[in-house]
Amino acid sequence: MVAQSGPATGGTKENTVTLALTKGRLERKAVEMLESLGYDCGELHDKGRRLIFHLGESGLQVILAKAADVLTYVESGVADIGIVGKDTILENGGSFYEVLDLGFGRCRFAVACKNGDDLYSGYNAKVIASKYPKVALGFFEEKGMDVDVVKIEGSVELAPILGLADAIVDIVETGSTLKENGLRVVEEIAPVSARLIVNTAAMKLKKEAIGRVIAGAERYVGEETK
Ligand code: PRP
Repeated sequence: MVAQSGPATGGTKENTVTLALTKGRLERKAVEMLESLGYDCGELHDKGRRLIFHLGESGLQVILAKAADVLTYVESGVADIGIVGKDTILENGGSFYEVLDLGFGRCRFAVACKNGDDLYSGYNAKVIASKYPKVALGFFEEKGMDVDVVKIEGSVELAPILGLADAIVDIVETGSTLKENGLRVVEEIAPVSARLIVNTAAMKLKKEAIGRVIAGAERYVGEETK
């Protein structure tokens, strides 16, 4: 599709929609989606250290933020809509509408431990390391299994290798990080993918402009799943 200035939404405040987009993993696919819908993403391709971008004359403004902050911005209403992983939504919760599974950023939540270890043997409370402590605790509570959860900020695979934890709860995409570090999936918890979320007040106040973005995203998902 030829890049245009994007579906016209005018320029008044009611017609200006701010989209909080998760930086990193989901960013490339989200920009691809916006471009396929006709939005001019030129500024997003040459972004330097900027964090706010205008998509041509479309009235759509994009802010780039860390995943958990996307929820905060959308919940507070400083952003009208957001694109964020289901992993972040499951961990943090929040008050907003989750309107669409965008189908990209697919991975899964899983429990993993060292090759050869048996997580479910013995009676002692196991230690679980995770960037997602609430998801981890919730999963083991539901199993009726007593665990201690340690919050880790990144490269969580290190925790069982170094003996800090018996297992991890993390997102697994290709599985290569686990494999290359001598870990294996013990159990899958939930599928994860990018979601479109909407501020509850903006859904009413900017019904038309937001409706156009949602309709575009639905078209994109429909095309992708054909
Ligand atoms: C994520 C996740 C795993 C890895 C899984 O980490 O926490 O470490 O990706 O992907 P794979 O199954 O394709 O190997 P991320 O790259 O976001 O970095 P981080 O651990 O530093 O947060």
